[in-house]
Amino acid sequence: MRRKLVVGNWKMNMTHAEAAAIVEAFVRLVDQKQDVDIAICPSYLSIETVRNLLRRTHIGVGSQDVFWMESGAFTGRISAPMLKAAGVTTCIVGHSETRGKFGKLEVPESTVGYFAETDETVNLKIKALLFQDITPILCVGETLAEREAGTTDQVIRGQLAGAFAGIDGAEFANGVVAYEPVWAIGTGKTCDSAEASRVCGMIRGALAEILDADAAQSIRVLYGGSVKSSNSGELFSQPDIDGGLVGGASMVADEFSRIVLSA
Ligand code: 13P
Repeated sequence: MRRKLVVGNWKMNMTHAEAAAIVEAFVRLVDQKQDVDIAICPSYLSIETVRNLLRRTHIGVGSQDVFWMESGAFTGRISAPMLKAAGVTTCIVGHSETRGKFGKLEVPESTVGYFAETDETVNLKIKALLFQDITPILCVGETLAEREAGTTDQVIRGQLAGAFAGIDGAEFANGVVAYEPVWAIGTGKTCDSAEASRVCGMIRGALAEILDADAAQSIRVLYGGSVKSSNSGELFSQPDIDGGLVGGASMVADEFSRIVLSA
């Protein structure tokens, strides 16, 4: 039986003082909810503050990204050993925003290429995280154009195959995959729960083929994209959805706690 998992992705929001205030309020609201795994992914600069506040709780601290080399002349990058030393237990990889795809375009289109990570870099990041025993949260999902062209499943299968090249099922057995349709991120348009569940089930089937049947049963598949307390209960009760990856709604302590309590 897979435990539910709810992860907050704070993206590029909040100073460490603001992060601390929200974490303190959030902990008071969810401390008793021990049957759900929870992680918060603040900016790199707030990881230490958040981790110190979460030390005596069952809530983990995560990172939003990582660079795949261990150390060296890579200005501005953060490595998996650095995250490990900072107490990070989980890390998002391949988010559509780091892949250069945005639910609503908030940067000049001419700059999108600067974000564009590929299935190959996602694969290198997963390997770097597994080597440090940090749980990867691999994000996959289609754009609106890909959905309208009827290629959703094919796009996601391609992302999974690329991400897991050279990785076997046992290595990723405790890993997480998050289905985040790009068109639902930050747009208020949630994917219908039946369709979200269908895609998460399709992902589980693909994991059985690409990795193996045991890993496909143990890997948690989350849904992300405009999750809020008004839709989280229905989404999380779908048989193939093991929890959520939450952006905007995870930055309001009350609202995020209601989402966790619904799991
Ligand atoms: P929103 O919940 O703000 O739509 O963001 C989802 C997301 O991208 C989480 O990683």
